[in-house]
Amino acid sequence: MVTSSKKFITLERFIHEQEHLHPAATGEFSAILHDLSLAAKLVWREVSKAGLVNILGTTDRMNISGDVVKKLDEFADETIYKAMDHGGHLCVMASEENEDILHIPEEYRSGGYVLLYDPLDGSSNIDANITIGSIFSIYKRISPEGKGTLADCLQSGYNQVAAGYVIYGSSTVFVYSTGNGVHGFTLDPTVGEFLISNENIRIPKKGKIYSMNEGNFNLWDKGMQNYINYLKEEDKATGRPYSMRYIGTMVADAHRTLMYGGIFAYPGDKKNPEGKLRLCYECNPMSYIIEQAGGRAINGKRRILDVQPTALHQHTPVFLGSEEDVKVCEEFLQGKRK
Ligand code: AHG
Ligand code: MN
Ligand code: MN
Repeated sequence: MVTSSKKFITLERFIHEQEHLHPAATGEFSAILHDLSLAAKLVWREVSKAGLVNILGTTDRMNISGDVVKKLDEFADETIYKAMDHGGHLCVMASEENEDILHIPEEYRSGGYVLLYDPLDGSSNIDANITIGSIFSIYKRISPEGKGTLADCLQSGYNQVAAGYVIYGSSTVFVYSTGNGVHGFTLDPTVGEFLISNENIRIPKKGKIYSMNEGNFNLWDKGMQNYINYLKEEDKATGRPYSMRYIGTMVADAHRTLMYGGIFAYPGDKKNPEGKLRLCYECNPMSYIIEQAGGRAINGKRRILDVQPTALHQHTPVFLGSEEDVKVCEEFLQGKRK
């Protein structure tokens, strides 16, 4: 007697089935996602035993954002690059851990797509065994042929053809969208496959959780401070006071916001007016996912996906989550509510 109604569909099978939704899809797309799922399993393998092998701790390097590069950052960065560089589907890559764009080695064919990625998100949490993740963003190339260019990597987020993340938590989940909804797959380590666990994830229209580093409260502008104070007031009709949850790994905080609703934000502040998070490989992919699930993602003034990047590692303030929550936040930020 079959007990579980669970469909045993692997990520590969699902990607293949979704291919017919993209008439122009040439199978390149599926191959890129397939290669990314392999990279995710390779990173998971090291993350899951990080404490046992000498891969915790830091290297002697700083990245372009001034962050100390952790050994697992470096491992994930190289693993993703090497899993993706020879498939013949990409013409260029860009990563948080590399100042310049990453070319495809001469010996491999260049393809029609572009990959930007944050190989390991939440690095400060690694040594404390707190949830971390990887983030990816995929565009079609705009340069005609041959080697990809910086312009290929600096496209507005609304041009993304796919985006997603892997969250290495109590289980390892691969979440992605190609513009037809958001789908989640959980790694079954015993068979080494990502099996579907959440098809067509929809974010609640409104939540009761806010997620941001309130340690920066005194650096925020008045509108942001007024919004936080509003969330803490008692008002049963609007579900207030909200609860505060903050993991300090964008992937984890955004994934919880996607699943439970509410708002995640990393505002700009007096010290860093553009905030801490990077537009191209953190905020654009996560905003794409949130919008595909029916949510909203802004930089305080406009939709994140409408911003035209001017630099690979540029920062942006980000406010993303349930449509209603982001709208109320926006009204406070713009001084329409006090
Ligand atoms: P990364 O590890 O890729 O540099 O990203 C860390 C980011 C993001 O994951 C998280 O939301 C944010 O840093 C947390 O910053 P604070 O520690 O300043 O709150
Ligand atoms: Mn990150
Ligand atoms: Mn990172």
